[in-house]
Amino acid sequence: MCGIIGYIGNKQAKNIILQGLKKLEYRGYDSAGIAVMDEKKITVLKCKGKIAHLEELLKHRKAPIRTHVGLGHTRWATHGAPSKKNAHPHNDCSGNITVVHNGIIENSADLKKSLKENGCHFKSETDTEVIAHLISRFYKGDFKAAFIKALQKLKGSYALGIISIYEPDKIFVARNDSSLIIGVGEGENLISSDIPAILGHTRQIISLRDKQIAAITRNTIDVFNFQGCRVIPKIENISYDIDTASKGNFKHFMLKEIFEQPQILSGLVTRYVSSSGNIKFDHLKIDKKFFKELSNITIIACGTAYHAGLIGKYAIESLVRIPVTVDFSSEFRYRTPVIKAKTLIITISQSGETADTLAAVREAKKNRVKVLTICNTQGSSLTRESDTTIYTHAGLEIGVASTKAYTAQLMVLYLVALYLGNMKGVISKNNLQKFIAELKNIPLAQKKVLTDYKNIEKLAMKFLHFGAFLYLGRNNNFPTALEGALKLKEISYIPAEGYAAGEMKHGPIALIDEYRGVICIVNQSPVYNKIISNVQEVLARGGKVIAIATAGDFQIQNYVKEIIFIPEIDNIFSPLLTIVPLQVFAYCVAALKGYDMDMPRNLAKSVTVE
Ligand code: F6R
Repeated sequence: MCGIIGYIGNKQAKNIILQGLKKLEYRGYDSAGIAVMDEKKITVLKCKGKIAHLEELLKHRKAPIRTHVGLGHTRWATHGAPSKKNAHPHNDCSGNITVVHNGIIENSADLKKSLKENGCHFKSETDTEVIAHLISRFYKGDFKAAFIKALQKLKGSYALGIISIYEPDKIFVARNDSSLIIGVGEGENLISSDIPAILGHTRQIISLRDKQIAAITRNTIDVFNFQGCRVIPKIENISYDIDTASKGNFKHFMLKEIFEQPQILSGLVTRYVSSSGNIKFDHLKIDKKFFKELSNITIIACGTAYHAGLIGKYAIESLVRIPVTVDFSSEFRYRTPVIKAKTLIITISQSGETADTLAAVREAKKNRVKVLTICNTQGSSLTRESDTTIYTHAGLEIGVASTKAYTAQLMVLYLVALYLGNMKGVISKNNLQKFIAELKNIPLAQKKVLTDYKNIEKLAMKFLHFGAFLYLGRNNNFPTALEGALKLKEISYIPAEGYAAGEMKHGPIALIDEYRGVICIVNQSPVYNKIISNVQEVLARGGKVIAIATAGDFQIQNYVKEIIFIPEIDNIFSPLLTIVPLQVFAYCVAALKGYDMDMPRNLAKSVTVE
């Protein structure tokens, strides 16, 4: 989705903004722009396409721009096609007020109509442009007052960055339902929609809250609510390792992130398991009594995080013996779910800013339920709106296709299941120790899977030409099939469908012929024989199979030639291993096709609009 960066200080704003824009590229965008204030004049440059193009435009300007205040934006089109004219920043008619915006102004059509009737001339088809014109209309010598008046007219979601010749030494920002952070520097300050863009400059941030504005100079940050009353902001330290924002020796972020998984999972076990072998979630803000009396759980998430939630259901139902439902956030928020008093809502999100998941939490909270969030992003909106958070500590995830955040979510879900199971007396201390010992084996087992990289790459080469794929799994590896298929379609653009293998006969078997690549997850499990039958059904119809099987399985070799082995592991935790070759396979297919899997077409890393 769109990205915002802004700078005020004594360095060259345009250089810092360009660097910041590059760090925002991973969010997904189709056009970009920059606005800088140059001796009381605002210069705006924008283009369709990549930031490299914007950089060229800046280089070829006759007069060099020397400025200390500026804004940058990457746009992911919602209102109006990707084009230069629709790219941000947008100006009012006089060119004295310049705006960048993330989010959607829902009443922009009505506002535009009335502004046009009052003589405003619009240059773009965007919803954003109304904001610049509105402020201009309300400006009578007090910029902050005009800004607040304009905000009061807006309906929808927004993170805003604004510069104006009326207040040349300030950046104004506002937030409602879309993330905006202020990077607190020394003699300089930055604004951004997310952390990577400012990481090289400061580790101190203020996360603006909904319905807050700030006026920022190089030395001061003044935060107000929409009534104009001053608010004391909280400055937080961000703990992200700056290396996570670079590719290191890897060709792509996605590959680096796949290879980071063993270390992340090992870190999570160390963090959340005490030396005496108990699970310790030290800062949980829900009391133990509630957990003990809990009668059911609803998990809400989107995309990959939803798939993690599905695996969480298998784990929790088996280890805690309470019912779990899993919902897409976008469905949950618009139906009338039955939420009982002893229900725990678990939300899962890498970014903590996903619009539908946030809205679903707000919907759930109307029923006064407890919400536990499993999240990767410190201080994100979801963590603030939930009763408590367990962090996944996967570090920044830059690749648009989620990999390390997913397995970190799974690890936390397993630990939550063990924690609750033990607390409710379903899991004995002895069994808890056994499960934890098995979880400690996972990082090494993942490393072993990753040593098979070359073999997986060869399979990717062999299967590259297939026009469509079917991924089959059963039981707790049915969601792995969904996730494997999602990874492939996201980054290689090959249609891929995940299915519960037992459902194959009820429809998808019609798709099987010699042109179909079929990936079957056939690890050792109580349903092993069932899925072997499914493999045979696929083979009988000419389908070409890759099997993900457990090391030492000789039976599968009687049927299938193309096999990726995973080390033996308790089946309950197998999704932590079975997904790894599927991530690598998807990566290799995309790489062989020459696609940029870190920034797949049409996708955004953080889905902050509905
Ligand atoms: C897919 C992917 C998405 C996200 C989904 C939710 O690879 O990354 O499906 O999982 O958009 O995002 P978060 O986890 O940030 O709520």
